[in-house]
Amino acid sequence: MQRAAARVLRGAVRTPPVRTLPVRARSAPAGTAPLGLLYERHGEPAAVVQLKDLEVPKLGDCDVHVKMLAAPINPADINMIQGTYPLLSPLPAVGGSEGVGEVLEVGRRVVALKPGDWVIPADAGLGTWRTRGVFPEKMLLKVPSDIPVLCAATLSVNPCTAFRMLADFESLVPGDSVIQNAANSGVGQAVIQIARASGIKTINVVRNRPDLPKLVERLMALGADHVVTEEMLRKPEMKDIFKSIPRPRLALNCVGGKSTTEMLRHLQPKGTMVTYGGMAKQPVMVPVSAFIFRDVRLRGFWMTQWRKDHTQEQESVAAMMDALCQLIRRGQLTAPACTELPLQDYRAALEDSMKPFVSSKQILLL
Ligand SMILES: NC(=O)c1ccc[n+]([C@@H]2O[C@H](COP(=O)([O-])OP(=O)(O)OC[C@H]3O[C@@H](n4cnc5c(N)ncnc54)[C@H](OP(=O)(O)O)[C@@H]3O)[C@@H](O)[C@H]2O)c1
Repeated sequence: MQRAAARVLRGAVRTPPVRTLPVRARSAPAGTAPLGLLYERHGEPAAVVQLKDLEVPKLGDCDVHVKMLAAPINPADINMIQGTYPLLSPLPAVGGSEGVGEVLEVGRRVVALKPGDWVIPADAGLGTWRTRGVFPEKMLLKVPSDIPVLCAATLSVNPCTAFRMLADFESLVPGDSVIQNAANSGVGQAVIQIARASGIKTINVVRNRPDLPKLVERLMALGADHVVTEEMLRKPEMKDIFKSIPRPRLALNCVGGKSTTEMLRHLQPKGTMVTYGGMAKQPVMVPVSAFIFRDVRLRGFWMTQWRKDHTQEQESVAAMMDALCQLIRRGQLTAPACTELPLQDYRAALEDSMKPFVSSKQILLL
């Protein structure tokens, strides 16, 4: 994490360019250029993103020609387009870091993939909002094609983040509890489900809204033990929750600002809070008493950095993907609540992805 922070301080990390040579792929059906959501400059997504014909490079020996099936719009994609994310693709860039595609054709030296396989990005910044693309094999991960397409399309970022944060910071055992804010986010929904499957209790914080009971019901149906609003975190009634479950040893912070300060109050002494998102765009404020009298630990997590740190340990990546796919097959991990839209409706999808209280991931069908 420290190295990631140092890199961010030094400036933006650039993703390796995906080649866009002006040569049509061999298997491209005649007269059908692939389409993609391209941006040539940074700015507000609805203003700078355009649906364009893309050129596909000739399939190299180590390349894979992929037909994309579905790809979500995540907050990090929005920040990349705005130019505010610490990882930026060289311009012009195709948006999207997550998604699933089907292999159409492979280069002569590709051994691990074959036509018909499903693939997801091995890392951020692939440019998944396109109908077809040619990518180096090393930028793709094979996933089983017996899981629902929406699960595969949303697998490489949020469930992996949830999995790692639950596994890597505290040694949780069944019966322990975790508290998280933005519990209705994609990551939050995955945390609820993975924790439930592991016997870990969750206390889930959401923002108040007119249709709160509906959201509470939805999160409880996913396996949440408690759902509370940010305001409720300050109330004495919170103590009632800890009559039946222990105080959390782990807090997952997606928001920052007040929500985080309030959440920290409920952490066990020597517990850990992991910050992975900053949706409120406000700093984390920690009362000094939390450090002095409860010795809480503050950590950060970035999935992109975890992948970089584990490039030589492919077995850790495979074990995580395997565990997540098993949960999906058993019906214990579902895709986030989502709205599926055709690529052509991208403007509405981009706008909706930035609205508060939508509680639905926008997924482009490609
Ligand atoms: N560090 C990592 O490796 C990593 C990995 C994955 C995701 N993330 C980050 O995690 C965050 C969530 O990603 P996602 O894909 O799960 O998001 P998502 O499904 O699009 O959900 C966004 C969430 O943020 C909440 N939110 C938005 N603005 C807020 C505000 N001002 N105050 C409080 N809550 C607010 C929304 O709540 P409402 O329903 O109340 O609007 C919703 O719960 C993003 O910041 C993303 O970049 C980080």
